[in-house]
Parts: sequence; structure tokens; C-alpha cells
Amino acid sequence: MIELEHIIKNFQSARTTDKKDKKDSIHAVNDVSLKINDGDIFGIIGFSGAGKSTLVRCINLLERPDSGSVKIDGVEMMTLKPKELYKARTKIGMIFQQFNLMPSRTVFQNVAYPLRDMTKEQVRARVRELLSLVEISDKENAYPSELSGGQKQRVAIARALANDPTILLCDEATSALDPQTTASILQLLKDLNKKLGLTIVVITHEMEVVKNICLKAAVMDAGKIIETGDVFEIFSNPKHTVTKNFVRTTSNLSKIETLIRDDSPMVRLKPGELMARLVYIHADVSEPLISYASRAFDIEINIILADVEIVAGAMVGGTVVIFNGEREKINRAIQYYRDKDIRVEVIKDAGA
Ligand SMILES: Nc1ncnc2c1ncn2[C@@H]1O[C@H](COP(=O)(O)OP(=O)(O)O)[C@@H](O)[C@H]1O
Ligand SMILES: [Mg+2]
Repeated sequence: MIELEHIIKNFQSARTTDKKDKKDSIHAVNDVSLKINDGDIFGIIGFSGAGKSTLVRCINLLERPDSGSVKIDGVEMMTLKPKELYKARTKIGMIFQQFNLMPSRTVFQNVAYPLRDMTKEQVRARVRELLSLVEISDKENAYPSELSGGQKQRVAIARALANDPTILLCDEATSALDPQTTASILQLLKDLNKKLGLTIVVITHEMEVVKNICLKAAVMDAGKIIETGDVFEIFSNPKHTVTKNFVRTTSNLSKIETLIRDDSPMVRLKPGELMARLVYIHADVSEPLISYASRAFDIEINIILADVEIVAGAMVGGTVVIFNGEREKINRAIQYYRDKDIRVEVIKDAGA
């Protein structure tokens, strides 16, 4: 288990104020407490500059917190002697956006690099085992420059797993990859989590990544954790404004605001029409609910945009629709949706 308590990490900004030796202090991580259970795939999501990288580097003390406690499996990392810390660190693997492979060494040599106290034979066996685990055995003798981004990240993962860590920290590990390669690396991480019982901490600014592989997550903003819990809860019922913005910007449904601003013909209403966003939380698929209400209340319901997706194995999303019909009937349809636990937000109303 990873337990962070009241972690504070400040940096001196390079920019000095008028007074020569007085520097601005940046609160990169500002009193963060967090628990990550063994075997979890835990996401930490936030916009750039939120403090995610600094926080994750505090877990293996690549960044030493100014104050607070970092416990791994009950052991306080902050008070370990250098030798003990070195040993503890071998049990925490890390991968990065830019892969950080050594360009003048082959794939084999990169993966062998962290292996110590082993015979040549043992090293060869272990490297081959690792390369097979990440499905890149055929590139053993290639140099990093001969690999694609996805292949490089596979090598980096193999290297990070060399010493059999129990924790893998991933700092924007898929942010430099195209969507398809991202999906395959995320699948690999999922498999490793299952196969090895590896605890994985995923730092990202991409909602997709968290949706795809995490069951639990924390949202970080300005050095603080502003929301934490089940990924499904965070997505379906975001509480903090920053989280709401995050969910919104990644949803198709937010495009409607652009369409309205541009006065697109798609979103112009005829008299009596009403445009609303229907947001499904723990609800069934959109289609039957729309066609049913249309029939039951004798109104037209046109779908302008739909965005329903699977998050942590459950359905989240919604549609933007235009209701057309007698106002009283529209109101009954809206009530019907609300009774079904569907959030109805009126976007635009051309009046009764
Ligand atoms: N070594 C450093 N020196 C000075 N400021 C830093 C350093 N590392 C990070 N920061 C600052 O700390 C804040 C958080 O950075 P970071 O942890 O990299 O955020 P994120 O990973 O969420 O983008 C930023 O304002 C960044 O400029
Ligand atoms: Mg970062």
C-alpha cells in the first residue's frame, strides 16, 4: 500500500522579484494525502502544471518532500538511510512520456542495465523473459532509434520491471503516442496488473486514459487533490468545478456550446421548441428512452448529439435533443426523464 500524508513540496521559481535574493515559491504539491491499495490501477489526473509529476516523484523520493510522510507497505521512506532507500527504490519501477532509453545501447542492454548481482546467463534469461512479457522479443538487438514510440515504451516497461517491482509509476506514459498505440500500451499495463499483481499509478492529463484503465482516481489542481474516489463516480457525478470542466471538455456534449455560439443552423430552434442536455447516470441506453418518451408523450425528440460511453465498466454520457410539441407534453416528458434519474439541463428555449 502507498500512503502519502500531508505531502508538501515547494520550488523556488527562477524568476526573482525586485529584491534580489528573494525568490517566489511555487507550491507544486500543497498538503496532499492519498492512499493507494495494492493491486490497484490508480489514476491521478489534472491539467498541465497541477503538480502530478512532482507528486508521483515524491512516491520514490526522486523528489524529496519538504514535509509529510511517504509510507510504502508500512515503511516510512523519508527516514531511510541512502542504502536502504536505494533498495526500496528497486521495488518501484517508473516509466515516462519520453521513454528515457539510452540511445547508444540496444534493447537488450537497456533492459539489462538495472540488473545487478547476476551471472551473464541469469541476465540473459531475465532480459528475454521481460522482453517476452512485453511482447517485443524480436527487437532484442535493435537500437532505440530503430523503434516506434509504442515499441520504445514496451522496452521502457520491461526495464522498469527488471527488478520485480511491486509498484509501477507511469508519468504520462502514453501522452506521446497515437490513440491506437496508446490503447495497446494501456492493455499491456492492464495485463501486467493482473498477471503480476502490480500496483500501477497512472499520471495523465488525458481523461481517456483514466476512463480506460483506472477504477480509482484522484483529480489534482494547483498542488491539491480536489476530488478522489471511484472513476465512475468522478465521471458521472463530478463535484468540483475543475473536475466538471475536465469531464465536459472530453465529452462531445460540450460541442453544443460552440454550435450555439456560432449560431449553427443545427441548433436554431423553431417557436415552441426546447433544447436540452440529457445526462445519463446509472441509466439504460439512450435510444429506447428517447423513442419511448416520444411515443408516450406524443412529441418529437430529435437527437442533435449523443455521447454515451463505458467508464469503469458502466455507462456514462448523454444526448443533446430538441423537443418539439405542445409545451405541456414536453414538460411531462422532462418529468419522466427526471423520475428515471436522468439529469435534464435546458440549453435553449424558444418559448411555449
Ligand atoms: N524542478 C522544478 N523547479 C521549479 N519549479 C518546478 C520544478 N518542477 C516542477 N515545478 C513547478 O511545479 C509545478 C507543478 O509541476 P509538475 O509537477 O510538473 O506538474 P504536472 O506534472 O501536473 O504538469 C509547476 O508550476 C512547475 O512549473
Ligand atoms: Mg507532468
